[in-house]
Amino acid sequence: MVAGMIAKFVTLPEIRQAARRRLPREVYNFGAGGAETETTLRRNRRALSRLAIRQQILVDAREIDLETTLLDVPLSWPVAVAPMGGLVLFHPEGDVEMARGAGRADTLQFLSGATGWPVEEVAAANPGPKMFQLYHHGDRGWVADLLARVEASGYLAVCLTVDVQVYGRRERDIVARWDPRAAMSSAPNPRGPDPDYQARLTWDDVAWLKKTTRLPIGLKGIMTAEDARRAVEAGVGLIWVSNHGGRQLDQTQASVEALPAVVGAVAGRADIVVDGGFSRGTDVIKGLALGAKAVAIGRTVLWGLGADGADGVACALGILRAELRTSLALCGRTSVKGLSPDLLLRVD
Ligand SMILES: Cc1cc2nc3c(=O)[nH]c(=O)nc-3n(C[C@H](O)[C@H](O)[C@H](O)COP(=O)(O)O)c2cc1C
Repeated sequence: MVAGMIAKFVTLPEIRQAARRRLPREVYNFGAGGAETETTLRRNRRALSRLAIRQQILVDAREIDLETTLLDVPLSWPVAVAPMGGLVLFHPEGDVEMARGAGRADTLQFLSGATGWPVEEVAAANPGPKMFQLYHHGDRGWVADLLARVEASGYLAVCLTVDVQVYGRRERDIVARWDPRAAMSSAPNPRGPDPDYQARLTWDDVAWLKKTTRLPIGLKGIMTAEDARRAVEAGVGLIWVSNHGGRQLDQTQASVEALPAVVGAVAGRADIVVDGGFSRGTDVIKGLALGAKAVAIGRTVLWGLGADGADGVACALGILRAELRTSLALCGRTSVKGLSPDLLLRVD
């Protein structure tokens, strides 16, 4: 933002309210909602609020260092925009507009494999660091062709989402008799030729992916130590602890609750990302303290897109960054590196 300009939005709740006012009700609910009873969705938030931060006083907090790396890619702060499909419902220029906003906020962006735009076009809209989230929406030949384009466009990693064997039952949409895929039918083909291919994925496909791309690979949607261990053994460099923001399997643990066991199993052999309900600077601190290298943000950024396009995205990320900086200073930590679980206390 240009110094001296009055910002349109000054808090994150304001952005969410603006998006809610602006978007059709079905679209807002598609973004906000989760699967079935929405227990997983609620748990994500509840588990975060059950973690209290223990502050340390009288630490010189004039300089706060937010820089980090993910898969050796330097990042100006440890936050990423999570991959989200269906963005055209939230803004006519969907993924391209999201890329512009992420670039403006100097924030790592994951482009969804459900994008309706050519990956080249989205890449060109964001000069900053970007990675690609893969859906196996076709056979191996289709994926190999897509990956060649992803590599050529400057994406720095490929992250396969493994928690969408089938599409979750999102009851807000079902009750409204509203199908997001039908609502997007005027957009460019948002999916590959065979979306059902996802249901047959196994560890063999991970080995194949590893052989097929020269980019580092990640798996998004890991919730247990066993799967994390197996992923590391398969040469996966990025372990993404996620329950898909409560949109897939209902009744799982909160992702922040699953994180410590995964961190223990990975034992430093891969970088860890977490997402699910993280929507404030203090939430980011909690994810990092428990061992994530970066925290991914879904809906909080999505509301920025819905409220005001790329400006809204950049504004949401700017507020989140300011919150992170403020809260680090207030808890007496001057760097995002080296945060540890003793920063947190479980309260009920
Ligand atoms: C509207 C929407 C679309 C999403 N589409 C995808 C997707 O295409 N691929 C994917 O891996 N995850 C997708 N997700 C899940 C997010 O990447 C992320 O895991 C989740 O939103 C994080 O939780 P949060 O929204 O509470 O921050 C989507 C989430 C939302 C809200």
